[in-house]
Amino acid sequence: MNTLDELVEQARAAFAAAGAPAALENEKARFLGKTGSVTELLKGLAKLAPEEKRVRGAQINAAKEAIERLLAERRRALADAELDARLALESIDVTLPGRKRSAGGIHPVIRTWMRVEEIFRSIGFDVADGPEIETDWYNFTALNNPENHPARSMQDTFYVDAKDSEGKPLLLRTHTSPMQVRYARMHKPPIKVIAPGRTYRVDSDATHSPMFHQVEGLWIDEQISFADLKGVYTDFLRRFFESDDLRVRFRPSFFPFTEPSAEIDMMFTSGPKKGQWLEISGAGQVHPAVVRNFGLDAERYIGFAFGSGLERLTMLRYGVDDLRLFFEGDLRFLQQFN
Ligand code: PHE
Repeated sequence: MNTLDELVEQARAAFAAAGAPAALENEKARFLGKTGSVTELLKGLAKLAPEEKRVRGAQINAAKEAIERLLAERRRALADAELDARLALESIDVTLPGRKRSAGGIHPVIRTWMRVEEIFRSIGFDVADGPEIETDWYNFTALNNPENHPARSMQDTFYVDAKDSEGKPLLLRTHTSPMQVRYARMHKPPIKVIAPGRTYRVDSDATHSPMFHQVEGLWIDEQISFADLKGVYTDFLRRFFESDDLRVRFRPSFFPFTEPSAEIDMMFTSGPKKGQWLEISGAGQVHPAVVRNFGLDAERYIGFAFGSGLERLTMLRYGVDDLRLFFEGDLRFLQQFN
């Protein structure tokens, strides 16, 4: 084999060994580039006599063409391989069943939230929203909770690894009642508002979840009484449950931020739950100390507040008996509400 044939064979081997386009172009440079072996040979022709130059030149050119052909072949092969690999990767099995995209639905507790807003808006209540991470002052102190009240303990309240401007630890609000204070300090009476939202307590069983929802209600003016509370709340329940067949009673209770305080119970007088008193909400006349924390004259302004559990209302409306079902995300359960 003469050296030109060897050169062609070397190129063939080098191109075959190049597994990717970039490597192949590097190999090309070794043979056909400015300082490549073929180019060097062509430069050497200058020193030859004219006759020799013609013969030798033709030989070198033949070798050069052979190498260019090999290069083109290898380029095509690599491009084909790349395309095959990509096609294999992107291949779709058209015989597979299609992916169905079903419409989303509204969570039953959120459905209750929306209904509650709609009902209270219709009787002139504003709807307010506030922070879930609260200060100790709004969640407890402003609501007349004594400094050493057990609700403040770590057993009952989730504390956050951050402090407020007074150096007190921030917490996840344990009820929506801090919204009474936040809203009242930003508005002038008459104050008529509900504040639905998420609340948190260290508590977990069939009827308690560490995260749950409440709706706070507050109506403050010069002559708002317990009778107004009873009227508003009874009307709300009738509309919420879409039934006049229910009775409401107020049972004496205690909350630091109301005086007197009551537990609101209701009873259906028809249907499957008929005849059973069910606890539905805390409520009361807002304590004068709290009215003062609203920034108002407690001699002049008076009114009521209530705090009701949205899960509880949802459970009663749909006959759900385990609260945990609301938070497990089981579509078999959730789809029933849509
Ligand atoms: N915040 C009370 C609770 O979470 C409920 C309540 C609200 C009671 C307003 C009275 C007035 O239990």
